[in-house]
Amino acid sequence: MPGFFRDNQRLVCDGQSLEAIASDVGTPCYVYSAPAIRARYAELASAFAGHPHAIHYALKANSTLAIVRLLKSLGAHADANSAGEIDVALRAGFAPSEIVFTGVGKTPEEIERAVGLGLKAINAESFGEMDRIDRIARRLGTRARVAVRINPDIDALSHPGISTGRKTNKFGVAIEEARAMCREMATRAGLHLVGLHVHVGSQVTKLEPLRRAAEALVALATELERDGVSVEHLDVGGGLGISYDGGSVPTAADYAAAVLPAIEASGRSLVLEPGRVIVGPAGILLMRVVDLKPHSAGKFFVIADAGMTELMRPMLYGAYHAIEAVTPRPGAAISADIVGPVCETTDTLGVDRTLPPVEPGDLLAARDAGAYGSVMGSNYNRRLLPPEVLVEEDGWRVIRRRQTIDELLQTET
Ligand code: LLP
Repeated sequence: MPGFFRDNQRLVCDGQSLEAIASDVGTPCYVYSAPAIRARYAELASAFAGHPHAIHYALKANSTLAIVRLLKSLGAHADANSAGEIDVALRAGFAPSEIVFTGVGKTPEEIERAVGLGLKAINAESFGEMDRIDRIARRLGTRARVAVRINPDIDALSHPGISTGRKTNKFGVAIEEARAMCREMATRAGLHLVGLHVHVGSQVTKLEPLRRAAEALVALATELERDGVSVEHLDVGGGLGISYDGGSVPTAADYAAAVLPAIEASGRSLVLEPGRVIVGPAGILLMRVVDLKPHSAGKFFVIADAGMTELMRPMLYGAYHAIEAVTPRPGAAISADIVGPVCETTDTLGVDRTLPPVEPGDLLAARDAGAYGSVMGSNYNRRLLPPEVLVEEDGWRVIRRRQTIDELLQTET
């Protein structure tokens, strides 16, 4: 598998030196492997090849233009969650007919933009939203393509903060309400019902919730057919998880085997909205050790130049990211809490980690940071957004340079 591997002890990206990249662009910085993204996309596409489908890459996972353009070049379509993501998708070359638009709080302005563009589907999250889409579409003299997002009350068995399919979650509408909404849509001049949508959560590593969610879509489509209402596609959302700790997780083929039988039987085309599974393992966050202090518990604090402003996941979800020395020093391993430079205790990337001996200036890599890493970055403490580098087998290039303090202050008086 292309991506990050050890070459004579040193961690490299597709044969390119991470030490050289870090010296050139500085740290912290994000490094992505284009070959790994291609391979992961291809794996997913081939798993679903037997059934008409469209892979709408979820821009929320990583929407740096060059990454989105890479996905576009591979044949992906796009899933956007805001007007900003729609704009990025358009600039990356996606046609409006290749974009689906989800989001639990679409503003009237966002709806107007989506309707005006004629997106492939606006995934409606409530009766009220359906009504707003209808009114806006009629005012614009058009018919909006709309799907209904169901909330099937299924536990994704993921972290509660990223599980979205329980009835206690803010997303979608219960199945009975969805049925009523779909029947109502057939009577609205501004709406064209094209699909049903579900997304029960992210970093889902059990197939059962994903299979049940797909089956819930199919069951509703069948009921609607009896009501005389028909849909073109069934959108099973994203959610397939990755292995952050080396444990085994379902493959793309396992995933296809779980959701395809029901979808195939329904005769509808399939829409997928994967994000993490494509780009997650294809990226790392590179950082340098700036200081080393003894910890009262007989271990060390390894203080890095990256923290919650670059990689928020450990702080927000207690998420685990493996952290490794790029060029391990010989000698006895140490136990350490790897922390960032931000002025709060929560700014901790990893607790009780084993590292080779490290010294200030050493390069560390937080693995599997390609999804929900850079996109969730912030300027807290007036820290500048880090650069991003895309690696190919024959070289690498900066796809986002480091922000400057002038850019950061540009919008202020
Ligand atoms: N479709 C919808 C409607 C979504 O809400 C999401 C993710 C996706 C697709 C893509 O899901 P994926 O295939 O990437 O799991 N910040 C969190 C993850 C939030 C996911 C939000 N929605 C994290 O760092 O784990």
